[in-house]
Amino acid sequence: MTNDDQRSAASRRTVLCGAALAALGLTTAACGGDSDGGGSGSGSSSAGPDKQVDLGSAAEVPVGGTKAFPEEKVLVSQPEKGTFMAFSAVCTHQGATIDKAEKDAFVCPRHGSRFQADTGKVTKGPATAPLPKLPVKVKNGKLLAGPAKE
Ligand code: FES
Repeated sequence: MTNDDQRSAASRRTVLCGAALAALGLTTAACGGDSDGGGSGSGSSSAGPDKQVDLGSAAEVPVGGTKAFPEEKVLVSQPEKGTFMAFSAVCTHQGATIDKAEKDAFVCPRHGSRFQADTGKVTKGPATAPLPKLPVKVKNGKLLAGPAKE
């Protein structure tokens, strides 16, 4: 194999990788392989709302249950009376909005990943990363989730 052959094979791989990523709507960061790896959780594509959102009455979330707020991209559970947990509803697999809230799990409609309602951890793939937690509080009976304004 000549140097030209090797270069052409390498560039073909680069092009194919780029095309595959473009088809999936991903960035080229996933194609590196020899960079620093980037770690986990960088970027904000799974972050849900970028400001605090009003989810309405806290009584809408059953004790020991869950509720999805797909428009606000928030999932809420109440594992114990008065204890609320909120998570981004943006699936950590490929970014679909999770709109299905079962008693103890959130389920992604696109590929069926399941996330534990009280921790956001993955209980069934293909997703591998947990749902990012959001700050949540109850004020005057209303649920407020997401980062508070400064
Ligand atoms: S996008 Fe949610 S499981 Fe694939």
